[in-house]
Amino acid sequence: MNPLLSVLTGEGNSQRPVWLMRQAGRYLPEYRDLRAKTGSFMEFCLNPDLAAEATLQPLRRFSLDGAIIFSDILVIPYAMGQEVGFNEGPVLGPLDREKLFFQKERLAPVYEALTKVSRQLPVSVSLIGFAGAPWTLASYMLGEGRDIARAKAYAVHHPRDFSALLEQLIEAISLHLIEQVKAGAQVLQIFDSWAGALAYEDLMDWSKEPIRKIIAQVKQVFPKIPIIVFPREVGAAYRQYLSIGADALSLDYALPLSWIKEHLAPHSILQGNLDPRILQKGGSALEQAVRHIKRTFSLGRHVFNLGHGILPTTPPEHVAQMIEWIRE
Ligand code: CP3
Repeated sequence: MNPLLSVLTGEGNSQRPVWLMRQAGRYLPEYRDLRAKTGSFMEFCLNPDLAAEATLQPLRRFSLDGAIIFSDILVIPYAMGQEVGFNEGPVLGPLDREKLFFQKERLAPVYEALTKVSRQLPVSVSLIGFAGAPWTLASYMLGEGRDIARAKAYAVHHPRDFSALLEQLIEAISLHLIEQVKAGAQVLQIFDSWAGALAYEDLMDWSKEPIRKIIAQVKQVFPKIPIIVFPREVGAAYRQYLSIGADALSLDYALPLSWIKEHLAPHSILQGNLDPRILQKGGSALEQAVRHIKRTFSLGRHVFNLGHGILPTTPPEHVAQMIEWIRE
């Protein structure tokens, strides 16, 4: 009935579910048209009609099993009172930690967009809500834009303030995820896109442990909501994320499939991990890569996805072709 939900809840399915990180976005001409009609990217994210429309665009073209809500991880610093803008990449205003306060009312348009989309989706397609993880959000908030070196320096020189910021983010992210479920999200994904930049001990303290706490808080309210965690590029430390209460791990493309098969597949439902560059290239390289992934991950325990977001230069026809090969 709903292949993505069945796989994530461990029931298995005879259809391998597929959705793509950044499936709504600039590689689609209809997205670029919609985007050209609005002002700033934040205004776009905070307009329920536009956000709902952008969410649904890829579903009109492709037979996808998931619809990820069109939003951004940086709506959280915005809701906490930090200035957030986009100019090529994200640009954030200065951070005054003591004034941060998550106001869910500021994200009402996101929740409204979720409800709008959930009313329009067929029962076979799951609606996916998401949030950035504390470390990834901190790496933008402390740097006035992504600045990992600056965020790490802050953590070293102001350890107590840094821990306090992580705790504030754990709270805000948990609330945001809970509100998304209330509004209609059926699956959640937590993106720790910059986890791979951390040394092992820091990774455990600043990525793994905060995400474990978020999952616990969300599951206290919604025990059955499936949660996917994406600790990007953490290498062998992926094994540490098997014990944080996640329902599935999303894999980047740097991991060898043989290693995944041995160390992760027996213990968790997995999602991933096609290199977005191969999707962009298309042709027989794409066909081979899809087959390799299908052979590696057992049906019923795997969600087909990319190892990172789709590239804006990807021809949409490659996506359609890839889905055919996945369904074959
Ligand atoms: O389709 C989807 O996946 C849903 C929408 C979505 C966006 N951002 C829309 C977006 C999702 C899930 C995100 C997550 C996100 N945002 C992450 C985590 C995933 C990852 O890629 O690692 C991160 C780190 C961000 C922060 C962010 N937002 C950056 C670095 C940028 C600029 C770079 C870029 O790709 O343009 C954004 C802007 C952004 N978020 C765009 C989109 C479609 C492009 C802006 C535009 O259309 O003008």
